[in-house]
Amino acid sequence: MSTPGTDTPAPRPKPSGNAAARYFFLFLVGLVVGIVATVMALRALDARKDHFHESVMHVMDAHLGALGENVKQNRCTATDTLPHLQTLRIMANDIEPAFGDLREDQRFAQHSADLRASLDEVLASPPIACPGVEAAIETVGSKCKACHQDFRN
Ligand code: HEC
Repeated sequence: MSTPGTDTPAPRPKPSGNAAARYFFLFLVGLVVGIVATVMALRALDARKDHFHESVMHVMDAHLGALGENVKQNRCTATDTLPHLQTLRIMANDIEPAFGDLREDQRFAQHSADLRASLDEVLASPPIACPGVEAAIETVGSKCKACHQDFRN
């Protein structure tokens, strides 16, 4: 095909110069839709999960951590320490109810009881200075660890 009057062949109708750009745009749209759908699906799955056991663990973790911070800042009076120990003790009551499927397990129940016993002991004669608080963190923390070693994957 040539234009009358010239020798040069007519320029081919170019496949519109930005076809590539269009495909890339579609690819991006697909990618974004895919990401949004995935996030929505994951959130829906997460919302159906039972968060009780994680919550109990995180609250206990926060209070044990707060005691550690207190020691670092040299705040170790009974009023600094007792509220955290008391909350730890109360949360420890919830361990079995929070782990529905594990509560029947003898060793799991024993680990929970050990934690409660060690908190009861600390609360019976609460530490009034930082070395005592540090020792209490060590004792209580070892009970957390003992159960985690057996039951946390
Ligand atoms: C009787 C057993 C037991 C005791 C005692 C225990 N834990 Fe746990 N903890 C578990 C198990 C089991 C998991 C794993 C839960 C999971 O991933 O589903 C866990 C998980 C955790 C987690 C991670 C939570 C998450 O996001 O999944 C933290 C933090 C934690 N424990 C802190 C503590 C602290 C602090 C103590 C002591 C004050 C403690 N735990 C005592 C059994 C125990």
